[in-house]
Amino acid sequence: MEKTAPPAAEDPQDEIVALVRVLHETQQRLQELTGGEVDAVTIPGGESYLLLAAQEKLRRNEQTLHLRECALGEISQGVIFSDAQRLIVYANIGFEKISGYSEAELLGKNCSILQGPLTDPATVVRMRAHLDAGQPFDGEILNYRKDGTPFWNDLSIAPIIR
Ligand SMILES: Cc1cc2nc3c(=O)[nH]c(=O)nc-3n(C[C@H](O)[C@H](O)[C@H](O)COP(=O)(O)O)c2cc1C
Repeated sequence: MEKTAPPAAEDPQDEIVALVRVLHETQQRLQELTGGEVDAVTIPGGESYLLLAAQEKLRRNEQTLHLRECALGEISQGVIFSDAQRLIVYANIGFEKISGYSEAELLGKNCSILQGPLTDPATVVRMRAHLDAGQPFDGEILNYRKDGTPFWNDLSIAPIIR
């Protein structure tokens, strides 16, 4: 690769733009040469190495996330993620099968839509108290599928971000 020295600019802004361009070109070329694998070559020059390392870390994180999502998709247990307002932001296939609702139907809803006429209100009060206090909740509750059939739901709710 031809080495492009950044032009000595008078305006610092121009020099920054030129430097960023060189950095970008270097980064692209390094990726071509290494296929994104930092370990494959020794790259002199800390900055470029760090850039590539950060990209590689991001790629690995994405891979890990993808793997975890696949795993959550494979298990038969229902898994729900909710936001701080307890509105559903994720439901796995297991949960779709158990509840009869699709993930799209569940997104943005509170799981209380699964409760019905014979759900014990005392269990709901206990569950709310745990959740309000940021405590995990484990217990059984009578829930209802989309088609109205009841089922015992063995719940294990854990706050993961406080
Ligand atoms: C991640 C998460 C999953 C939940 N899963 C269920 C569930 O499967 N069935 C259920 O009856 N309630 C479930 N709940 C509890 C209800 O969503 C709701 O929080 C509870 O009835 C208390 O009502 P409130 O949120 O309006 O205070 C869950 C709550 C959270 C945070």
